[in-house]
Amino acid sequence: MILVTGGAGFIGSNFVLDWIGCEGTPVVNLDKLTYAGNMENLANLSNDHRHIFVHGDIGDSALVGDLLKKHKPRAIVNFAAESHVDRSIYGPADFVHTNVVGTFNLLEEVRSYWSALADEEKNTFRFLHVSTDEVYGSLGPDDAPFTEETPYAPNSPYSASKAASDHLVRAYHHTYGLPMLTTNCSNNYGPYQFPEKLIALMILNATKGRSLPIYGDGQNVRDWLYVGDHCEAIRVVLAKGIVGETYNIGGWNEKANLDVVHTICAILDEYLPNSSFVPHVSLITYVKDRPGHDRRYAIDAHKIERELGWKPKENFETGIRKTVRWYLDNMAWVENVASGNYQNWLAQNYVDRGIS
Ligand code: NAD
Ligand code: DAU
Repeated sequence: MILVTGGAGFIGSNFVLDWIGCEGTPVVNLDKLTYAGNMENLANLSNDHRHIFVHGDIGDSALVGDLLKKHKPRAIVNFAAESHVDRSIYGPADFVHTNVVGTFNLLEEVRSYWSALADEEKNTFRFLHVSTDEVYGSLGPDDAPFTEETPYAPNSPYSASKAASDHLVRAYHHTYGLPMLTTNCSNNYGPYQFPEKLIALMILNATKGRSLPIYGDGQNVRDWLYVGDHCEAIRVVLAKGIVGETYNIGGWNEKANLDVVHTICAILDEYLPNSSFVPHVSLITYVKDRPGHDRRYAIDAHKIERELGWKPKENFETGIRKTVRWYLDNMAWVENVASGNYQNWLAQNYVDRGIS
């Protein structure tokens, strides 16, 4: 039995599906079901007794304490977080609440549970904290990619809150001996990503003939990793990672945003040749930049390859084709998430930038 938090979100749900498919052992999935959590992502597990869903908050100490006592997990994988940079700019409080205070409350309950375990279980228990490359700040065009030794320099309320949670995790290992692992990953893309993030948003907007909003000059660079590769990397770190260590996870796929959007448009032109929006590239619109927009992220993923034998299977060309295909084949999922509050978010973030 493992406990996964945030397992109804984008990466978490991919991970739960992947874990049950590959490992076959049960998962308790604790998720608050914010706007980003979606039980539809887990529909394939609705009759599978190995998936135990619990609707709740990682910051709810009583609930977490009870879950730990009842299910006695051998490991925890902590995905639960507020994850969108633009939302953190409009409303940082939720980010501090979940990413900092929520992680702290979770750690306290885990510390109490772990301290009472027998020696053997104590030694094999693991807490894997899923974090981001954004904690390292922004790179110049010629800077070397982030390594595990790069000093933290978070620039957005989101990355600052993730950095705070990483520091708490580190301190709980150093001070109390809790068996922690931390992973810092680059930008993910793939099935079930909420269409507020670049790739999912661009696919949705392009198929609807809406503007494709490029922040600034479109030359900001991200290192893209297919979500299935991230899930595999986490399983590898959980199985073989050295307690107390941090592992950077990346795709070796640095791309400027404008190139990413051009690639999506070209694939859509090919898959939807009869669409009245061909060429989709004509929908590109330059809009006001994100405040404090980090220029470039790049991950040096040599450590996890050298020490644990993991490297990504997908490159950007294969991963982005799979992703566009998945969105076109799952328009019902997209329509469902793109209703209600999602419309309010579009109005808040994009009307200000001059498009609707
Ligand atoms: P997401 O926003 O899609 O999903 C987050 C999930 O956490 C949702 O299901 C939400 O309901 C749940 N949640 C939020 N607050 C909660 C709380 N207080 N208690 C319980 N559940 C709560 O996020 P994602 O993109 O899947 O990211 C997952 C994790 O991976 C995050 O910690 C994020 O910082 C990290 N990460 C994401 C990326 C990326 O590119 N998406 C890259 C590196 C690291
Ligand atoms: O690097 C890992 C991080 O990647 C994760 O920790 C975050 O949870 C995840 O959201 C992501 O952060 P980014 O800010 O890099 O992702 P986003 O998809 O929001 O933006 C990617 C780039 O695209 C960024 O340079 C901003 C730009 N962008 C984004 C949107 C939503 C646009 O140009 N237009 C847009 O409409």
